[in-house]
Amino acid sequence: MSDVVSYQIVDNIGVVSVNSPPVNALSQKVREGILSAVTAAQGDASEAIVLRCDGRTFIAGADITEFGKPPMAPGLPEVLSAIENSSKPVIAAIHGTALGGGFEVSLACHYRCAIASAKVGLPEVKLGLLPGAGGTQRVPRIAGVKAALDMITSGNPVSAKTALGMGLIDEVISNDDLQAGAVQYAKDLVASGAPLRRIRDITIDPATVEPGFFDAARKKLAARARGAIAPDKIVSCIEAAVELPMDKGLERERELFTELVTSPESAAMRHIFFAERLAAKIKDLPKDTVLRDIKKVAIIGGGTMGGGIAMCFANVGIPVVMVEVTDEALQRGLGIIKKNYSITVQKGKLAEDQMEGLLGLISGTTDYNDIADVDMVIEAVYENLELKKQIFAKLDGVCKQGAILASNTSYQDIDQIAAATKRPQDVLGLHFFSPANVMKLLEVVRGEKTADDVLATSMAIGKKIQKVCALSRVCYGFIGNRMLGGYGRESQMLLMDGCLPTQVDSALEGFGMAMGPLAMGDLAGLDVGYKARQGRTDLPDDPKLYRMGTLLVEMGRHGQKTGAGFYKYDPETRRRLADPIVEGMIVDESNKLDIERREIDNEEILARCLYPLINEGALILEEGIAQRSSDIDIVYVFGYAFPAAKGGPMHYADHVGLKHVYDKMCEYRDLYGEQYWKPAPLLKELAESGKTFAQWDKERGAS
Ligand code: CAA
Repeated sequence: MSDVVSYQIVDNIGVVSVNSPPVNALSQKVREGILSAVTAAQGDASEAIVLRCDGRTFIAGADITEFGKPPMAPGLPEVLSAIENSSKPVIAAIHGTALGGGFEVSLACHYRCAIASAKVGLPEVKLGLLPGAGGTQRVPRIAGVKAALDMITSGNPVSAKTALGMGLIDEVISNDDLQAGAVQYAKDLVASGAPLRRIRDITIDPATVEPGFFDAARKKLAARARGAIAPDKIVSCIEAAVELPMDKGLERERELFTELVTSPESAAMRHIFFAERLAAKIKDLPKDTVLRDIKKVAIIGGGTMGGGIAMCFANVGIPVVMVEVTDEALQRGLGIIKKNYSITVQKGKLAEDQMEGLLGLISGTTDYNDIADVDMVIEAVYENLELKKQIFAKLDGVCKQGAILASNTSYQDIDQIAAATKRPQDVLGLHFFSPANVMKLLEVVRGEKTADDVLATSMAIGKKIQKVCALSRVCYGFIGNRMLGGYGRESQMLLMDGCLPTQVDSALEGFGMAMGPLAMGDLAGLDVGYKARQGRTDLPDDPKLYRMGTLLVEMGRHGQKTGAGFYKYDPETRRRLADPIVEGMIVDESNKLDIERREIDNEEILARCLYPLINEGALILEEGIAQRSSDIDIVYVFGYAFPAAKGGPMHYADHVGLKHVYDKMCEYRDLYGEQYWKPAPLLKELAESGKTFAQWDKERGAS
């Protein structure tokens, strides 16, 4: 039929097989192959048609690499029409993940069967899109409006069992051989005279949708949209499924899909999809690097961080030993883990016996000799270089040869830590983000002497514990925290120049950040930055610099943990509230510094907070700290809740134009001084040559 789609008749059933690795995406060739197979089957002796896939999964969606390119015939709607209008029943046989356009292909079939481990879903919203091949019209017709809305706006797939309950599939096949099971199912349907069931023929009675349902959904989704525009359009499509006939609904869906596929939001989210997968690849590492076996892990330090890291390993079945100095500290650490799991049990997301199983994987000790047999150690004690060096010297003494020794430090020099051992090749940084069992990012920090297999194993283990890994070289703060410097500084400088905290934070939250920088400071603890500043000799002697942050700490307002910081916090709800005391102080302090306060608009707030971050990113790139600009985007989207709909700071900079970013850096340099606003040479070079960071990556073979 074609090199990606084959057709044969098995036991009177026509079997269409898609074989287009890695995920059988609906490329032009696959669309063409399915269309000609289904067309050919109309005139042959087959009684029904089974559509199945080879390899690891059923069709996982449209081919995302084709978006943004000129359309190539046949379009997906044409393929779906051929399936739906087939004179013989077409049955989708699903394994792996039937996602997006793949699931929509199955919805155009007359029946769907799946093996129990299969999942189905419409994840387009995660790419800034909506299902563009009838998903928004067909799912509400069989699963109901509310279930469809939840499924399509969350983008989360459901299991075969759940899909069966929702009516999205018709049969779970117990036969280990899906093709054989599906052929039998098709024969049974034919034998029972099952009709050519078309989802399009179902109409939804508008009276079944409660008044105001769509408005309420829009409001709820807008509150958590964070710059994404697809959720609102998904609501419009589902509304169309209720109010319009099928073909009109499909037209509406196509129109809104086309708007989204050309939007900068979707381009940004598709960039993140590919950047996430690229970040896992280390440019100079041989592909055949043999990995070390990680069967047991030790965590040094039973604080919040250590506990969270231990949970990550237990969650994927890897036994963990937690090491603490005293029995009391150890019991406290193990207690926190138990409490965290209990909360998940209370929420109904974990069964009691599963929790016992997980806790059974986590043991504790106060004796380093007990971790002689582990394959990997992650040190997660507080930030003190001398202490970390002592711990690594001790680990060098007790751990077996070949064990990977990692530090979870956020700032310290991995090479100095490695030098405390006689095996620096086994040492690297594994920087988790708090809370470690929730946050997706893992910065993998490559020391001067870190061995290739240590790096490769750490990237693989990061993936296993379901983290998104990004590689960093050693520098103060690595990629993420190093870039935060100017962002935090300017958020406070803006207060002195004319803003109030709510204005700064709402500008950044309006942009899509999960939390503005000042509220973030309150959450992390203002005393943390205060203490870090005490030890620094490189900061300019400027009374304006971090003035409010310093004064607030000295007043005992350390942020959320003391009930007050830049904001005050409602003791019951912990909601943040503007505090007239702080607002008054801000105005007084500006006056004391003879600063004439002025109106500052959102555009300036965004530029002053985000452009220093981007500028530092450019320095990080030219110094070779990050492999590519898209890795920096991954660090920010998964570690710092930068909005995916903006694609991360470097993609955002490419979008607004590097010349614009550079010109603004120069403008602020002339206004506020070079000690804060010094354009990175790479930013200048790219701005002058009209290039983007993405092009820079490409020219270096990094993308
Ligand atoms: N198009 C093109 N390439 C794709 C792809 C797609 N839909 N899905 C995955 N790939 C590529 C990945 O980029 C990756 O390539 P590299 O090996 O070169 O890095 C490779 O396939 C394997 O992917 P993963 O590493 O993600 O493999 P996995 O086993 O961990 O996950 C998966 C498999 C669950 C299918 C995951 O890849 C995934 O979620 N894919 C995207 C699914 C999706 O969003 N579908 C909707 C597309 S939009 C659409 O369909 C619109 C419409 O309505 C018509």
